[in-house]
Amino acid sequence: MHKIVQRVRFFNRSSLLTHSHFDQSQLVSAFSNTVTMDQTRTLQFLHFRYISAVEGIHAYCLVVRTHYFLKMREITNTRELRNAFDKYDKNVLSRCLNWTSRENDNHHAASYVVNRHFTADHNDRCRKEFSSKLLKNIPDFVKIVEVSARDGLQNEKVIVPTDVKTKLIKLLVSSGLSVVEATSFVSPKWVPQLADAKDVLAAIRDVEGASFPVLTPNLKGFEAAVAAGAKEVAVFPAASESFSKANLNCGIEDNLARCRDIASASRSLSIPVRGYISCVVGCPLEGKISPAKVAYVAKSLYEMGISEISLGDTIGVGTPGTVIPMLEAVLDVVPVDKLAVHFHDTYGQALSNILISLQMGISTVDSSVSGLGGCPYAKGATGNVATEDVVYMLNGLGVKTNVDLGKLMLAGDFICKHLGRASGSKAATALNKVTNNASKL
Ligand code: HMG
Ligand code: MG
Repeated sequence: MHKIVQRVRFFNRSSLLTHSHFDQSQLVSAFSNTVTMDQTRTLQFLHFRYISAVEGIHAYCLVVRTHYFLKMREITNTRELRNAFDKYDKNVLSRCLNWTSRENDNHHAASYVVNRHFTADHNDRCRKEFSSKLLKNIPDFVKIVEVSARDGLQNEKVIVPTDVKTKLIKLLVSSGLSVVEATSFVSPKWVPQLADAKDVLAAIRDVEGASFPVLTPNLKGFEAAVAAGAKEVAVFPAASESFSKANLNCGIEDNLARCRDIASASRSLSIPVRGYISCVVGCPLEGKISPAKVAYVAKSLYEMGISEISLGDTIGVGTPGTVIPMLEAVLDVVPVDKLAVHFHDTYGQALSNILISLQMGISTVDSSVSGLGGCPYAKGATGNVATEDVVYMLNGLGVKTNVDLGKLMLAGDFICKHLGRASGSKAATALNKVTNNASKL
């Protein structure tokens, strides 16, 4: 009992009782003991959380206000309370705890669960314990490059209005993301969805707190982007000759020459140029891509002064088994701090590939809110890895991102609602269930 009570943590007015591994009887006894212990205390609130994984994703959240402590003490039949917890009988719980649902409380519960759920304060300890083993190379901070407004939307058949795109970008920035790729200055005949690139940049001109790189396939696109106010651009060669032709209407070498033109034009304007390499482990047209080809393109980009090179598994076929050799080959020719990874989740491998990349020292990860995305010239590729899933994993590892998961989910909800589709993020889906359960109490 003492051990359990030691795990109870009180923070001034908003007091939290958290522990993720209680079994139900421990939970009830901890709660009852806490109530007894604190009879004389004058705490304003006790927020009480019980998260139980049922078949992987179901979870429950309870929030109890401390001024009902007195009521609690009046409960004569503790077995009734115990049973109610065991069965998660909300009606009995509500009666026992004299619970009333109020919007603010629910909001508090939701943001609490989303932002605290199995997060770093719990895992800092784990990090130390594992520091000499598997987690030792994992960076303390990971920069997330959010690509939903470009990569996420470029494949959407129905045109998303400019004001929806800009609202999405603003929501993403307000979640703490520091790099939000905004759009592409490509041919509107090739990618009609992003034909409003100039208008998007104009609408976010005054948004502070993030940078907004844009894709530029050639000098024409670069000049248009600069004229529209772009402060960062990205070129996007492929490691596959066939994909390069399908995506850009030119082969790898011709495209690298275009990248070189953009790199030198940007130098005089002090505009950083990011470089994406598509198809780093597999190509929809050629199949397996050799690590040597990826290393060749990466080295070429590095030598032309590209500021950051993002390695894209465009069709999401990679596993750690193919990603590790590819990264090893690239790390031989490009410093690790110049690299980013960009995984699609077609085969559910994205998070494992990201984890491996972090273990290999990479600290920049591309992702897309709600897992939106897919390249129009990569048939069968599903979305990018969902930013919510990445943030959830990084929170669990105790890695800082500066991203507020609750606010990020608002951005995801917003765009999914607009597109009329469910989120592709497992973490967002599970956490939404938690908060919905909380709001029903
Ligand atoms: P092209 O047809 O060979 O170009 O396309 P062209 O030079 O022959 O010109 C044809 C027309 O396009 C002309 O107009 C040009 O002015 C115009 P017209 O005389 O017919 O009226 N044009 C442009 N218009 C606007 N902006 C431009 C531009 N350039 C020419 N920049 C081009 C070549 C590169 C333009 C075309 O192939 C293209 O736009 N491709 C873009 C494809 C694309 O955006 N793909 C998706 C992004 S890549 C991706 O998703 C992968 C990534 O996310 C990584 C990952 O997920 O793994 C990066
Ligand atoms: Mg992508």
